[in-house]
Amino acid sequence: MGYTSLYVLCMFLFVWPYSGLAQGNGTISVSSFLTAADQATLWYSPSGDFAFGFRKVQDQFLLSIWYDKIPDKTIVWFVNDGTTVPAGSKVQLTTDRGLVLTDTQGKELWRSEPLSGTASRGVFNDTGNFMIFGSSWTKLWDSFSNPIDTLLPAQTMEVNGTLNSRLTETNFTKGKFQLRLLENGNLVLNSRDILTDHVYGAYYRSQTNDINPSNQGYQVKYSTAGYMYIAKRNGDIVNLTTNGAIPSTGYYHRATLTFDGVLVQYYHPKDSTGTSKWISVWQIPVNICLDVRGDTGSGACGFNSVCRLDEARRADCECPESYSLLDPNDTHGSCKPNFAQNCDDNGSSEKLYDLVEITDTDWPFSDYEQLKPISEIECRRHCLNDCFCAVAIYRGDSCWKKKLPLSKGRKDRAVNGKAFLKFSKGDLPPEHRRGGDNPIYPEKNDKRTLIVVFSVLLGSSVFVNFILIAVVGFGFSYIYHKKKKNSQHANDSVETNVCRFTNKELVEATNGFKQQLGRGSFGIVYKGVIQMSSTVIVAVKKIDSLAQDGAREFKTEVNVIAQTHHKNLVRLVGFCEEEQHRLLVYEYMVNGTLASLIFSREKPSWALRNHIALGIAGGLAYLHEECSTQIIHCDIKPQNILLDEYYNARISDFGLAKLLMLNQSRTSTGIRGTKGYVAPEWFRNIPITVKVDVYSFGVLLLEIICCRRSVENLEFGEKAILTDWVWDCFQDGRMIELLENDEDILSEWEKVETFVIVGIWCIQEDPSLRPTMRKVIQMLEGVVHVPDPPCPSPFRSTST
Ligand SMILES: *[C@@H]1O[C@H](CO)[C@@H](O)[C@H](O)[C@H]1NC(C)=O
Ligand SMILES: *[C@@H]1O[C@H](CO)[C@@H](O)[C@H](O)[C@H]1NC(C)=O
Repeated sequence: MGYTSLYVLCMFLFVWPYSGLAQGNGTISVSSFLTAADQATLWYSPSGDFAFGFRKVQDQFLLSIWYDKIPDKTIVWFVNDGTTVPAGSKVQLTTDRGLVLTDTQGKELWRSEPLSGTASRGVFNDTGNFMIFGSSWTKLWDSFSNPIDTLLPAQTMEVNGTLNSRLTETNFTKGKFQLRLLENGNLVLNSRDILTDHVYGAYYRSQTNDINPSNQGYQVKYSTAGYMYIAKRNGDIVNLTTNGAIPSTGYYHRATLTFDGVLVQYYHPKDSTGTSKWISVWQIPVNICLDVRGDTGSGACGFNSVCRLDEARRADCECPESYSLLDPNDTHGSCKPNFAQNCDDNGSSEKLYDLVEITDTDWPFSDYEQLKPISEIECRRHCLNDCFCAVAIYRGDSCWKKKLPLSKGRKDRAVNGKAFLKFSKGDLPPEHRRGGDNPIYPEKNDKRTLIVVFSVLLGSSVFVNFILIAVVGFGFSYIYHKKKKNSQHANDSVETNVCRFTNKELVEATNGFKQQLGRGSFGIVYKGVIQMSSTVIVAVKKIDSLAQDGAREFKTEVNVIAQTHHKNLVRLVGFCEEEQHRLLVYEYMVNGTLASLIFSREKPSWALRNHIALGIAGGLAYLHEECSTQIIHCDIKPQNILLDEYYNARISDFGLAKLLMLNQSRTSTGIRGTKGYVAPEWFRNIPITVKVDVYSFGVLLLEIICCRRSVENLEFGEKAILTDWVWDCFQDGRMIELLENDEDILSEWEKVETFVIVGIWCIQEDPSLRPTMRKVIQMLEGVVHVPDPPCPSPFRSTST
């Protein structure tokens, strides 16, 4: 018999209907067994929807459960941590150990544990659950209680339950993502270190945790109708399936933690037409590429990789130019550079390496140096000549140098700025390298070798492409610089480096003030696009409440603001002053306000909050002490702190307080600032100093730590006023209560404690007791001792 007829026979066997082998009622009697082989027997649920048995994975077999009636026979459960077993391995239902998986030598590889009794039968029913019963129908074990990466309708995940993603779409061993229902009731998604199982910060949190146990979530339920929700102990439910219309009859369902870290609920028509596939109902997180944050771990893709959200809103990972996959089979794994910059190359970097500009791309957690102010050319030059620099991001007038391995790379339209990635000019396919002595790298200053190498290489199309790219790149940069020069002439800049716009220009830029970004104390802010040397997205603030005689003051203030340069301040791009029109044009901050970050359902990681708090402190210290004219902000609050694409805090609305205080005595209408954040001296006859900002910063710091507003409604009881509650907790030594529902923060407890105490120092009623912002930074950074603070409001008439 030839190979062809063998093949036909196999095909025939493959399509042979299974019903003849099915168990009918789904009952499996003790000592039944299955053997891993190409056309082996399977156990089926009564309807035949689910099959249990060995599935071929590459050349081996995986003991698993799958949807059997759809073409791709989707696996929903498997054993042995996803490790495949050789042909001839066996699974048997035994009385003492339940299901036992053994290899060809009879060595036990896996068993159904824990088994709480002596097994008398197995039942594989139409929910897809494989159950083992003892005598008198006591359930001893079931697959639903031991989920792997998928939940099915009728399945429940209890506290401490975990789903683990697989490594790749086709490798079932444990991957790097987890869905966990924590002891405190929170459902979280996190990545982990594969080697040690160390858990990284969560990138999704359901916020179903609570100090009060009865308000905690305790089960993730998947109803038979296909709805998923978190059940709380008090009977409340929190829906995970937010989409109303889920088809139930006629559809299969599942929710799977995909290998790239997204929890997706799917359905699939039962009558498969061949083209039908799993359809996503909802998924978390919203954007896996942007949501996985933090300093450690590689992110949704591997190190040096770039994550882009595909149409299915899943992670599409790609190695950047001149990088290639470490493991060619692991598309979501790490990338390695195809070259290594040698730090002994001194002087010849520009000959050996070059930078390629890539768009909308960033690795926000790999910085090691920031240069500012600096031109784009200089930024490129600095990276090119720095053997540590793998990529430079240029944005505004800042240059961030980044080191290997690059982590949490993302390509997204929300990413602003230009990325210049280093590559080796010698990074050409191996067929172009000749001999062992690597002629690609010419000797220093040896023009002759260089020419020889060039002429050898010119014949190759790859090299021609390189030249083409270089020529085109040069052409573009030439045009760019010409345009830049022209536009600089066109914009009349008044003794500062900010542009002056006409009202008409800004009407056009904002499309007639169409898209409102927010409303500040000085007027409404609109989104706009300005064509300068490149297209710049801006936030245009229309000042509506300017005092009558504020015209001259406006220009003075614009000058003061324009002279500020700090990485934690929002940069002024330009302004407009024309008749009654007064507008300020700021750089646009992609990540919105701090308020929306810390008061959202998902708490940002402690590392990020720490970074933001220090950033705000740095910006304030600069305004108070370092810029040429001292600036008191007077309205520090989370709505006035914006976040750039690196989640750096950027203070906005500074330098304007004076404009509104003109001719205003300090009556209650003259109070600048916002309820909950204003220092007590505004209400008293005490001079207003920079210490009013320190007070507001203190309140803000406590909000950042606790991720809640400083004033909440009365439902919060004793916790309604954050500053009072924090002091009470501090005084009673129960500060841990502040963070009860924040598992991320507990490991940093000492640091958090310091932050709380610094916050209490800042909110002292007596301004002289409050530290300066410089001191605040030292205390937050832990370089000076932080003594215990006195009661912030000794004169407070307590209403208790
Ligand atoms: C599956 O088994 C469970 C537990 O015995 C039972 O409650 C459920 O009704 C069964 N479901 C189906 C569809 O057979
Ligand atoms: C899956 O990945 C693991 C870890 O890299 C490897 O040891 C194993 O051989 C892979 N399994 C398959 C079936 O490729």
